[in-house]
Amino acid sequence: MKKRVLVATGGGDCPGLNAVIRAIVNRAQQENNWEVIGSINAFNGVLNEPQEIVVLDEEKTAGIHIRGGTIIGTTTKGNPFEWPVKNRDGTWTTSDRSDEMIRRLQYLGVEAVINIGGDGSQKISRMFYEKGANFIGVPKTIDNDLSGTDFTFGFQTAVQEATTAVDKLVTTAASHNRIFVLEVMGRYAGWIALNAAIAGGADAAIIPEIPYDIKSIIKKIDSRFDKDRGFAIIVIAEGAKPVNGETHYRDSTDSGNKQFRLGGVAAKMINELKEAGVTTDMRETVLGHLQRGGTPIAFDRILATKFGVKAFEMVLEKKYGQMVAYRHPDIVPVPLDDAISRYNYVNPDSNLVKTARGVGICMGD
Ligand code: F6P
Repeated sequence: MKKRVLVATGGGDCPGLNAVIRAIVNRAQQENNWEVIGSINAFNGVLNEPQEIVVLDEEKTAGIHIRGGTIIGTTTKGNPFEWPVKNRDGTWTTSDRSDEMIRRLQYLGVEAVINIGGDGSQKISRMFYEKGANFIGVPKTIDNDLSGTDFTFGFQTAVQEATTAVDKLVTTAASHNRIFVLEVMGRYAGWIALNAAIAGGADAAIIPEIPYDIKSIIKKIDSRFDKDRGFAIIVIAEGAKPVNGETHYRDSTDSGNKQFRLGGVAAKMINELKEAGVTTDMRETVLGHLQRGGTPIAFDRILATKFGVKAFEMVLEKKYGQMVAYRHPDIVPVPLDDAISRYNYVNPDSNLVKTARGVGICMGD
């Protein structure tokens, strides 16, 4: 009887998930006594009745490293410790199904679990490890906000997408003498906004870590216009907030999901600019899930492949309670605690922020 490793992908999808899955399968195939199985839609596949478990072999995973998304599906509503349950009156409550999940894993003959996911998923990995289950984490998020690793896979693909958007907006903004506000993802951390602003040569990068003062942005805009000629590109992270202001949420229609949806901060900024007296023609562009879908760039395919190979080798070495991490130039195991104890924020004193300021990008402060 072969030993089984169960793979799950949780939280928002991310380019490179399939490359991790393929790498785990390819590496496991080199051992004679291992079988890789996947749980459909994070741990829902284990907990749902009937169960949805698939065998992942080379036939299933051949060539998937270039495909976005995840062949085993994902969900943001599958935390076994806080399983969403709908009440008769339509409200939601949660129930703890973690013990049941461990029993089900034992019944499936699962020796170890490789949980590919972001902050929320790795908190779940840690909690299962504390309960005695053999969990290993693989860090994923386009936001790059997980600590313990230099980069998460998927992030560079998102930056590339956002940079392409800046490049395109420059040509239309310049033709119309307009101001464009480009809203990119970045709930707690402004990595995508800052990197895309530098790569695309934007005029302002507004990130959650540096609350903005609208007057500072107007000063920058003014410097980009001579009378009514000129243009300006502002890249704003969805989680950005003004000095003494709050993050802008839009109403959540996603019942059973604890996380409120962000969105609309670019339109809000345009209103603030108008209220402050800016009369130039302005447009917002919300890049949204275009940053998350589609083919991973080569960097992310390689990083994801490294993560997959290492994660399986950590199973062989029984390095449980750890997460695979990129610490340039190495791929190393780090305690899950390192990843979940704090977010990986952009440091306002970092070289990256200094670089942005050095080329004249307004950081909103
Ligand atoms: O955490 C990654 C992320 O892409 C955030 O930047 C964004 O706020 C969120 O996911 C969007 O989630 P959903 O696809 O569930 O709306």
